[in-house]
Amino acid sequence: MKILVLNGPNLGILGRRQPEVYGSTTLAEIAALVAPVAAELGLQPEWIQSNHEGDLIDALQEGAASASGALLNAGALTHYGLALADAVRAFPHPVVEVHLSNVHAREEWRHRSVLAGACVGGVYGFGPDSYRLALLALARLLEPERG
Ligand code: DQA
Repeated sequence: MKILVLNGPNLGILGRRQPEVYGSTTLAEIAALVAPVAAELGLQPEWIQSNHEGDLIDALQEGAASASGALLNAGALTHYGLALADAVRAFPHPVVEVHLSNVHAREEWRHRSVLAGACVGGVYGFGPDSYRLALLALARLLEPERG
């Protein structure tokens, strides 16, 4: 089962981006941390990072036929990306919202997610573990499909 792991603007520079907020782990290192969990769950994560909303929309549309679900850390698009939110609604599989930081403990504008209502749920505030926990939750949800 293929799972899209979509990462939005500025997540490609994790490791050197505000390490006091996001830690020093790069996106590639997060992917390496998630890999054994995914393997154990029988899932194949496909990691995509783009600074452009349209690329993430394309990935959802193109992955609709081949993927079974998605994790989505949309970065700041979380807070205003209405076209991305519509693409999540149109994606015919569950999407879990992911954030490294606790967005609710930060600036007020980060408290609102335009994606949350389009996702099955969300995991935030656990650093790289947010991705692992989100994958576990998604795997649980997909269990009936997998038999
Ligand atoms: C983030 C939180 C967003 O508010 C921010 O714009 C990001 C990263 C997180 O993972 O904590 O780019 O999505």
